[in-house]
Amino acid sequence: RMPILEQCYNLMDFEAVARRVMKKTAWAYYSSGADDEITLRENHSAFHKIWFRPRILVDVEKVDTSTTMLGTKVDIPFYVTATALGKLGHPEGEVVLTKGAKKHNVIQMIPTLASCSFDEICDAREADQVQWLQLYVNKDRAVTKRIVEHAEKRGCKGLFITVDAPQLGRREKDMRSKFADIGSNVQSSTGDDVDRSQGAARAISSFIDPSLSWKDIPWFLSITKMPILLKGVQCVEDVLRAVEAGVHGVVLSNHGGRQLDFARSGIEVLAEVMPVLRERGWQDRIEIYIDGGVRRATDIIKAVCLGAKGVGIGRPFLYAMSAYGGPGVDRAMQLLKDEMEMNMRLIGASDVSQLNPSMLDTRGLSMH
Ligand code: FNR
Repeated sequence: RMPILEQCYNLMDFEAVARRVMKKTAWAYYSSGADDEITLRENHSAFHKIWFRPRILVDVEKVDTSTTMLGTKVDIPFYVTATALGKLGHPEGEVVLTKGAKKHNVIQMIPTLASCSFDEICDAREADQVQWLQLYVNKDRAVTKRIVEHAEKRGCKGLFITVDAPQLGRREKDMRSKFADIGSNVQSSTGDDVDRSQGAARAISSFIDPSLSWKDIPWFLSITKMPILLKGVQCVEDVLRAVEAGVHGVVLSNHGGRQLDFARSGIEVLAEVMPVLRERGWQDRIEIYIDGGVRRATDIIKAVCLGAKGVGIGRPFLYAMSAYGGPGVDRAMQLLKDEMEMNMRLIGASDVSQLNPSMLDTRGLSMH
């Protein structure tokens, strides 16, 4: 028998239910990683290499899990990251996540390849709610400019340019399921014909510009006042280059293990990046986020201790939405908040600003 919602006690429980109830093609699209899925697994195991050094006898009667991201106050240091094709998992698609994000006062990043139209997702938001836009850059820059200008006009507060997908990775599970009903599941802003024989991911991505380069960054900075962040940065050299290019932030990410297999996990790269930024005194010139494999509040705490402003979470909310709809997303977010409060208490931090590198033992990470 299928567990009822109240029997889901952590984010992995939603995944187990989703796997049983979702259509095979949808499960294949959401769950798959690139090639041998080594990076997909590493996104979890990297967190398991970091241990805590909690501090005792700190007054933790009151614990405040809130923080700010790009100037927006949020309840807890995570955001709902961009994941394409929400209607594969739920008939209402991304707006289900919009409502959950509102209820828990966290930010939603809207994907370029959403199932709902961009305007539907904006319309679903409450007046005081903040959304960001994830951008796949179109070969036709006039199209990209229109998307960016429209997003700014509709009140988006951050532009996350995906830089780890000049070509979509091979997700073989997804390819095998020979995606059939793609047409009804994406609001194509591209107008291109889709090739359905290659799985969902490749079918919808042919418009993405593989010639995108550092030379294009000044142009992006010139067409919008939104803060610009690069999503998918994977080494310290590129973080330094991003600072020099004048962008506002980066997401250390491997796209949920869906692009380059054997890419390192975001948390591992974070441990490489922060000491170098601090050495140069650049840590306040840029906001650093990570995503990939975050399933527990302890994962969030580890990232914040190392210096991340926050973390993105993808699949767990897709699974919660697919299995239980809005109430599933609500419960998944509440579980994370409860875990966050308890674990901050156990670590000896009464607010997020007290989380720092000395609370971690990172000797298990390969670079130390
Ligand atoms: C993604 N991700 C993603 N990223 C992006 O920039 N544009 C996109 O369209 C998508 N689409 C997408 C679909 C699905 C089904 C998944 C699982 C992921 C990557 C996403 O933003 C994020 O990097 C990862 O999902 C983070 O890893 P976890 O939390 O899923 O482990």
